[in-house]
Amino acid sequence: MLKGKKIAVYVTGGIAVYKVSDLVRRLIKAGATVKVAMTKSATEFVTPLTFQILSKHHVYTDTFDEREGDKVSHIHLADWSDLAVVAPATANSLAKMANGLADDFVSTALLATTAPVFIVPAMNQHMLENPATVRNIQTLEDDGRFVMEPDTGFLAEGYTGKGRFPETEKIVETIQEFLLNKEPNLPLKNKKVVITAGGTKERIDPVRYITNDSSGKMGYSLAIAARNLGADVCLISASKTLQTPYGVSLIPVETAQQMHHAVDVEFDTASIVIMSAAVSDYRPEQVLNEKIKKNEQEMILKLVKNKDILATLGSQKKHQFLIGFAAETTNVEEYAKGKLVKKKADMIVANDVSKPHAGFNKDTNEVTIFMVDEEPVELSVNSKQAIAEEILAIALTKMTK
Ligand SMILES: Cc1cc2nc3c(=O)[nH]c(=O)nc-3n(C[C@H](O)[C@H](O)[C@H](O)COP(=O)(O)O)c2cc1C
Repeated sequence: MLKGKKIAVYVTGGIAVYKVSDLVRRLIKAGATVKVAMTKSATEFVTPLTFQILSKHHVYTDTFDEREGDKVSHIHLADWSDLAVVAPATANSLAKMANGLADDFVSTALLATTAPVFIVPAMNQHMLENPATVRNIQTLEDDGRFVMEPDTGFLAEGYTGKGRFPETEKIVETIQEFLLNKEPNLPLKNKKVVITAGGTKERIDPVRYITNDSSGKMGYSLAIAARNLGADVCLISASKTLQTPYGVSLIPVETAQQMHHAVDVEFDTASIVIMSAAVSDYRPEQVLNEKIKKNEQEMILKLVKNKDILATLGSQKKHQFLIGFAAETTNVEEYAKGKLVKKKADMIVANDVSKPHAGFNKDTNEVTIFMVDEEPVELSVNSKQAIAEEILAIALTKMTK
């Protein structure tokens, strides 16, 4: 979503300035080119050099420091950017923006830009609740600016309140969602993508269960990739540790049976269904309400088979594009090809989970994609996010064939 985007980050003088270095780093990591401008107050907190090193561009601080003979810097930055991010936005800068003041580099460039403006206020709670600030934020929203809600938590003043600079990860997610809503021609716009993620848990008693090593990272990466293509994403997840991606609706589940039920409910209206969860093949025949006591030398646990969700969906499939995952440790190709036919899937993403960079719990993956009447496509080691984007790109090509 941010790949190739030109983002001007306007830094104003609040205590949260130091957090913006991480925001800049994350925006660049997500593929954006970033140029930074700072108010004089902002430079009291962090030096321009920090942002220059991170962004690899000159940092603008002075309207009259015109270094490039053929350009007026504040107009150049304003015109260059696809997006303006004001972070942190001080009460003072909000007031200036709301009233069209242009008395330094930042305020002048912001007045000159026609790019969408995304504002991240951060300040003391009383400053935030001051009627003047409330009025200024309302004016900015009425003018079509996006103002992000500050977090509540421990403030620099030493007490808890509203006004904290949100986590940088959350800001990047919100920026992506904001840009997404501005793009009319995304390939999965108005389409529902259902994704399962994580390893299911099959209860034995209140404190014990059967599960597997799946972290859910692949499913969550797919959810982000589908969302970035404009889809309405429904993530049915058995993972409790990962943060729900912004703009994605989460249905938490625990067991394979709960997951199956949740997928069933969503299936009819889905355009793409991706079964990336590691679903337990078996569950204990009996789930005990009380903890099993240790007494015998041996104990036999009787397991019964769970219904195969992918195969059931394959047999019910109408318009849906069905993607299954095959996590194997041996004969990966043979099993994956078998699954493709037996389960009537449109695509099987196979990974050899015994490989060092692939499979459960890792941040990277290495997969081979199998589709009916197509040669297998190998995706070499990459981040799960990049692999997720490639999987969806290939699915889109196949769907439109
Ligand atoms: C230590 C310190 C921390 C500050 N933190 C904030 C803040 O978080 N938010 C805010 O709106 N103002 C904060 N201020 C006040 C601003 O720096 C001040 O209003 C300044 O004029 C803002 O200028 P600018 O909007 O041009 O950057 C702080 C000031 C000091 C000295």
